[in-house]
Amino acid sequence: MPSDAEASLAQLNPVQRHGAELYARMCAVCHGKSGEGYKADQATALAQPDFLASVPDALLRTAITEGRTGTTMSAWATTRGGPLSASDIEAVIAFIHSWAQPARAALDEHSLTGDVARGASTYQTECVRCHGNRGTGGPNVSIGNPQLLGVVSNGFLRHVIRQGRKGTPMEGFRAKLADQGVDDVVVYLRSLQAQAAKAPPRAPAPPPPLPLGPVPLNPHGPAPLGFKVFPATTPADVVKAQLVDRKARMVLLDARAPSDYMLDHIAGAVSVPFYDPAPYLDALPKDAWLVAYCACPHAESGTLAQKLLDKGFKQVTVLDEGLGVWKSKQYPTHTGQTP
Ligand code: HEC
Ligand code: HEC
Repeated sequence: MPSDAEASLAQLNPVQRHGAELYARMCAVCHGKSGEGYKADQATALAQPDFLASVPDALLRTAITEGRTGTTMSAWATTRGGPLSASDIEAVIAFIHSWAQPARAALDEHSLTGDVARGASTYQTECVRCHGNRGTGGPNVSIGNPQLLGVVSNGFLRHVIRQGRKGTPMEGFRAKLADQGVDDVVVYLRSLQAQAAKAPPRAPAPPPPLPLGPVPLNPHGPAPLGFKVFPATTPADVVKAQLVDRKARMVLLDARAPSDYMLDHIAGAVSVPFYDPAPYLDALPKDAWLVAYCACPHAESGTLAQKLLDKGFKQVTVLDEGLGVWKSKQYPTHTGQTP
């Protein structure tokens, strides 16, 4: 008897199957195996039916290609230093649509007639606690991000604000705000988009994978103290004290997509993406501690650590709080393609 997963794979066409393989390896760690969302961080529910009924492919394509700056959603396109070609991205999009083919929602695209000051005040009372000041930095999806607002219509925004996304914390505001209140908030979101600083141009990305830098760090240093084998994790303070202050011998592995690595990484870390460590395995030392980290804060690094243990590495740990805490403590980081 084939398993459920095998049976549903068998119903996919070859393009969707290719998308399914990529999705399982690269996306499921955060968005969930079946697109249910919230496996790690605030990765949204991609299979949610109201989302699939209203989402334009431009949203999916732009999100996957460019990521969402300032969040853990990486840029996955090879043009940005990620692993996916344009046709890989189309295959992932085809797979995402295979979860459900709801009738397309009829989006209300009549011209906006809102008031920005009223919208700003509604935003403060109803939305800021989840979506953050000016639509970023909140506990939920960054709706002020110009990479999102730039690809959606007013009808899409009205639709999600009016009816919410069932099964997620996003409730519908149709009754509470009425059409006028919803339009006011949409006008406010458009004002955020207009004021958003242009993202700085990214340096041209080399074809992946990035070459491994020198390993281990501190090759003649002592063995680190206080590191714990995964699934236990090691606190940032311990890693920093051993790496920087005591100059202990270790390898730091950035488990995220290389596009993130190039934006910033722990100084000295090498890029070994969680979805494909194979090109690096022979070059990694078996007699030094390997410390994996990501920013989510340990979904991708945990996936990488488990793969390394499965390959026979014994001294593998995960940086407990991830890159976010490392940076907030102003421990050393580096930008670019090299460690
Ligand atoms: C209790 C938390 C919460 C509140 C309050 C809330 N939202 Fe949301 N919102 C969410 C979550 C969670 C999602 C993503 C749901 C999903 O997984 O699809 C979301 C999704 C959205 C989206 C779609 C984003 C996308 O990428 O598809 C928009 C637009 C949005 N919210 C606007 C608003 C506005 C405007 C308000 C206030 C009127 C509001 N939300 C209030 C939690 C909230
Ligand atoms: C490290 C966790 C992580 C991984 C891995 C990841 N994502 Fe995301 N993704 C997120 C987060 C978090 C967001 C919401 C970002 C925000 O706040 O704007 C997101 C947003 C998205 C969105 C936009 C959804 C919306 O409602 O606006 C799409 C589409 C998406 N991801 C697809 C993918 C695909 C496809 C992959 C694999 C190639 C992937 N993601 C891998 C964390 C992740």
